[in-house]
Amino acid sequence: MEELKSIQWFPGHMTKTKRKIESQLKLVDAVAILLDARIPFSSCNPDLRSIINNKPRIVVLNKCDMADPAETKRWLSLFRQKNIKAIALDCKTGKGLNAFIPAVKDVLADRISSWNKKGMTGRTIKVMVVGIPNVGKSSFINRMSKQNRAKVEDRPGVTRGNQWYTIGKSFDLLDTPGVLWPKFEDAVVGEKLAYIGSVKDDITDTEHLSGRLLEYLRDNHSSPLCARYKLKSEDIEGLQGYEILEMIGRKRGMLISGGETDTERAAYMVLDEFRNATLGKITMDKAVDYPDVRI
Ligand code: G4P
Repeated sequence: MEELKSIQWFPGHMTKTKRKIESQLKLVDAVAILLDARIPFSSCNPDLRSIINNKPRIVVLNKCDMADPAETKRWLSLFRQKNIKAIALDCKTGKGLNAFIPAVKDVLADRISSWNKKGMTGRTIKVMVVGIPNVGKSSFINRMSKQNRAKVEDRPGVTRGNQWYTIGKSFDLLDTPGVLWPKFEDAVVGEKLAYIGSVKDDITDTEHLSGRLLEYLRDNHSSPLCARYKLKSEDIEGLQGYEILEMIGRKRGMLISGGETDTERAAYMVLDEFRNATLGKITMDKAVDYPDVRI
């Protein structure tokens, strides 16, 4: 854990992003907050709530194809309890994407009915998509554009920057202006972000990270770990992560000259297999641990 604290966490950009988001907020009707379904708490920028202030919002738990479905349900129910509109989807298969526009309309129901009363029926709904790097913003916007392909109409008087995307007939998405970093200062959060690959590996020690991940998996998700690497839970009890890594490398025949285990190769394999859910659909942030979640 200590070692991870030494990682350079891209300091200083938040003020710029905050200003950019605030200045564009007045152009949109709502904000879609993309979170990683495997770490809904850790993938949320801690300042976001104060930045978006009282703008209507909808939480999108993305990458739910890689999260534990039961845990995703718990998160959705927690958000429901808090009166926060939330949906789960995955941009890999497109599952759940159809629920997005109805969910936004639901959040904006009062506003839409007042537009209709004023004769502004069919007014374009504009939504800002926000989320930390790698959470799937581009994938989400691409998917939405494909599934709702429509002829792009000329709208006189509207200047479009590169970040605006037209979705269907009367729906526009605006990509996050600037880069919204997660809560890097918290070591536990930083570690989870590193496990899922939100932090570039060239700034972390891969073998150390993989070792920490193996300890976490041994303590919290022992069955899928043991099944995948043909380990016996009693054999890895009490071991250091690095020792588990060596054991896995040996079992997989990953050797370097002199008969030593190629732990670096093993480390990349373990991280890859965790990141693409080969090790199982694992949610690291449990809803029960965040009863006071606010977004
Ligand atoms: P960003 O704009 O927020 O930075 O994220 P982006 O869409 O670039 O997505 C980051 C990575 O996450 C991409 O993988 C993307 O394919 C993957 N991804 C996005 N949404 C989902 C999802 O719902 N499920 C799964 N399994 N993956 C998702 P990549 O490896 O960086 O690129 P590539 O393999 O797509 O080329």
